[in-house]
Amino acid sequence: MDAKHATAIPTPNSTGEVVTLVDKRTGNEVQLPVLSGTSGPDVIDIRKLYAETGYFTFDPGYTSTGSCASNITYIDGDVGILRYRGYAIDELAEKSDFLEIAYLILYGELPSAAEKEKFEQDIMQHTMLNQQIITFYNGFRRDAHPMAVMCGVVGALSAFYHDHLDIFDETDRMIASDRLIAKMPTIAAYAYKYTVGQPFMYPKNGLGYAENFLHMTFATPCEDYKVNPVLARALDRLFILHADHEQNASTSTVRIAGSSHANPFACIAAGIASLWGPAHGGANEAVLNMLTEIGTKDRIPEFIKRARDKDDPFRLFGFGHRVYKNYDPRAKIVQESCHEVLNELGIKDEPLLEVAMELERIALEDEYFVERKLYPNVDFYSGIIYKAMGFPTSMFTALFAIARTVGWIAHWNEMIADPVQKIGRPRQLFTGAADRPFVPIEKRG
Ligand code: SDX
Repeated sequence: MDAKHATAIPTPNSTGEVVTLVDKRTGNEVQLPVLSGTSGPDVIDIRKLYAETGYFTFDPGYTSTGSCASNITYIDGDVGILRYRGYAIDELAEKSDFLEIAYLILYGELPSAAEKEKFEQDIMQHTMLNQQIITFYNGFRRDAHPMAVMCGVVGALSAFYHDHLDIFDETDRMIASDRLIAKMPTIAAYAYKYTVGQPFMYPKNGLGYAENFLHMTFATPCEDYKVNPVLARALDRLFILHADHEQNASTSTVRIAGSSHANPFACIAAGIASLWGPAHGGANEAVLNMLTEIGTKDRIPEFIKRARDKDDPFRLFGFGHRVYKNYDPRAKIVQESCHEVLNELGIKDEPLLEVAMELERIALEDEYFVERKLYPNVDFYSGIIYKAMGFPTSMFTALFAIARTVGWIAHWNEMIADPVQKIGRPRQLFTGAADRPFVPIEKRG
């Protein structure tokens, strides 16, 4: 826990502007204040909308709704900007490392050398799991999907680590945060080992964060295993790119779970469940399956046609984004990393990469994709790297979850510390049956 950088509370500013509506019940004018942040669109503060006008808002999928104020991550989807605590993602990916940006995302500032060393020690001393959890794994089938195992094991952590679960105590919050960041690689590596029937490899705390994960995943007790430093650096960079992304579906899930004051392990398990969906973090697994199904470049037009077809549920996985209407800045960095890893491993002419690059070229010239501003997102190339590293496709989203745990736990801390946050409880537009009397079964049609 780092007392120096306590969680900074988000503080919107009033612009002095107002939006005027009419109370549908009285005809009186109602003025709603406009608030601004440091970057991005201003917001209409509608907290009093229903009380003062009788209206709800209607925004399925929250396409135009801000759920909170936050200091953590800023995205400009039109320009393709992503910043963690004000620092551009391309600079962080090139010049920083995952635990350093974990500190930045958690505490709001880049650590000094001493702060970084202490944070790394705090994290690396929590990498082991309670031995009883190893028994917990034995309850799963060997062919269980790693994300199902991750949901179960992370949700169960509160049954093993209940000594520091006072969510209103900042020290307890930070201990739980450190435990989650530290144990996710171990939990994910063991989910893989369990499905391949190999013994679990204990963490080696002298290794780096990504290096330790690769060791736990691919080493065996039978021989010495040396992690390839180029692969460790590439994975560390991928963890940086996946660490946080503002109010995406899984982060919003963690926030709304946390708003009921559930314990942090339960909240992160909820985030893992949401991330698993192929429309979100599960897309990296779906992309690899899609590229494999396409197989060769000559079949690409057939799949583009299906993606454009309203009557066909098929979508081009790894393309499109709710926020980015320009190239996802992370996708460019992942593509560059892809070439670096394939070269390091001596993999020439990887057919999946050939298909992916040709698919991107064709899609970016196709008016369906151009009109809808559909570009490759972070999931489009990442799976090719993971596959080259030796991970099965079923592990791809678990890798995403390891990294995103930092963002989830930072947003959870920010929400708990924010005095204006309250339990998340949206309303609805009811379009069901009006009031009607019960019909006894003998009188039903
Ligand atoms: C992640 O939110 C985040 O920040 C997420 C993430 C993070 O870091 O947390 O960035 C990680 O989840 C990236 C996204 C991974 N998902 C995929 O790659 C799955 C494929 N993409 C789509 O499912 C879709 O693009 C979404 C879910 C990502 C975004 O959906 P939206 O914002 O709700 O957009 P939409 O469905 O309203 O699409 C707008 C139009 C529609 O056509 P029309 O009705 O206007 O004719 O674009 C079409 C869609 O049919 N469209 C696609 C498409 N994505 C959108 N058509 C074909 N293929 C696609 N991939």
